[in-house]
Amino acid sequence: MSTAAPTKRLYIKTYGCQMNVYDSERMADVLAPLGYGMTDDPTHADLVVLNTCHIREKATEKVYSELGRIREMKDARRAAGHAMTIAVAGCVAQAEGEEIMRRQPAVDLVVGPQAYHQLPELIARSHRARGERLAADFAPEAKFDALAAERNPTGVTAFLTVQEGCDKFCTFCVVPYTRGGEWSRPAADIEAEARSLAEKGVREVTLLGQNVNAYNGANDEGEGLAGLARRLARIPGIDRIRYTTSHPRDMDDALIAAHGEVEALMPYLHLPVQSGSDRILKAMNRAHTAESYVRLIEKIRLARPDIALSGDFIVGFPGERDADFEATLQLIREVNYASAFTFKYSRRPGTPASAMPGQIAEDVKDERLARLNALLDEQARAFNQSQVGKTLPVLFERAGRYPGQLIGRSPYLQAVHATAPDHLIGQIVPVRIESAARMSLSGALTQALEPA
Ligand code: SAH
Ligand code: SF4
Ligand code: F3S
Repeated sequence: MSTAAPTKRLYIKTYGCQMNVYDSERMADVLAPLGYGMTDDPTHADLVVLNTCHIREKATEKVYSELGRIREMKDARRAAGHAMTIAVAGCVAQAEGEEIMRRQPAVDLVVGPQAYHQLPELIARSHRARGERLAADFAPEAKFDALAAERNPTGVTAFLTVQEGCDKFCTFCVVPYTRGGEWSRPAADIEAEARSLAEKGVREVTLLGQNVNAYNGANDEGEGLAGLARRLARIPGIDRIRYTTSHPRDMDDALIAAHGEVEALMPYLHLPVQSGSDRILKAMNRAHTAESYVRLIEKIRLARPDIALSGDFIVGFPGERDADFEATLQLIREVNYASAFTFKYSRRPGTPASAMPGQIAEDVKDERLARLNALLDEQARAFNQSQVGKTLPVLFERAGRYPGQLIGRSPYLQAVHATAPDHLIGQIVPVRIESAARMSLSGALTQALEPA
């Protein structure tokens, strides 16, 4: 999309998951034709967008405190004779639209995750001080139709939303209420977007969905995410494909087989289990047991023995006893994770679990979280350590902190630092791993370099 030089400044702050990162980029795309160019400084922005997350109480509260700060900036700008429009987007917008406008009257408009293609219209209305200031309908199809297939990526990796929404209704989770029901984009649209990314230098795409492996768009290569991955793997330039987040219940045989067959599909899988206790899993409405999850992992490892596994875990779900928590630790020991995300249960208004008896005291949650993290940290370190001495293909993404250093990713999503010239950004290069830390690896190039 080529537009004239920007005449207005847009500041977007993004909270929450990768899909919000994707959405923020697309909001900028939608606003560019109106003359908005990005700025890093909210104090002189004509339009401020907070793209928000509702997943835990802390995430939501952050938004209200940030709005307080932005409001002061708006007042200062007005005093200097300039206007600032404040928009709240994302999952808090969807869940608490009316309340946001009541709690912070400086907010000009509120737009949910399936309605941000309406931003130009909402902004125009807010400037006329007339009409609806809240758009929160669930229309993913209309949204994607309104977005251009062409993207303006800024790096060699990019997110690409292929599926949205959730029908799973885990009893702790707000996502089915903030993102709506499961919906898949047509494969042809996804392919067009991926081609545009590849033409602009993107080598790795991460396919996004709240339940990305529930993807069911029609596809010549067969149904489902496996077929989509095979199709995208054929695009010249797209050398690496990742996807997140998956639900164990949608991890079908075709997708598992693809992990053994599609070279571009990276050997890394984020497959949240949440708990290792069947009693708690049932109360969470997860529809898998600890045993069925472990069997599934075995099957996946049969197809792709070196796959790195990652997961999400919640401690302190209502009714969680010591024995339930021990079962979670036991499952972790059985599976052996390369990385993980851990959370203390947060009570979310309107979700079934928030009304369950047996809410767990904060100090118990703290203690369990510390033990959980200690075990998972140990596994992450051991996984990274196991790479030392190996040579891994690294996709270099950007300059590192020190001069002459680049940072890239291994196939297993580990950050890798190496001394390397800038022209290797965007290339996949063999790197011999020399040392490992909890979060990253360092290594050295193995090949003599061609001149730049
Ligand atoms: N769709 C994805 C992501 C959901 S949100 C999935 O199903 O995995 C990411 C993670 O946040 C979840 O996996 C869960 O571990 C955590 N989470 C969701 N709701 C939560 C809550 N109320 N309290 C604590 N953690 C929560
Ligand atoms: Fe939330 Fe469960 Fe849906 Fe994931 S699968 S988004 S945790 S309801
Ligand atoms: Fe948060 Fe919404 Fe993502 S609640 S985690 S921004 S789907």
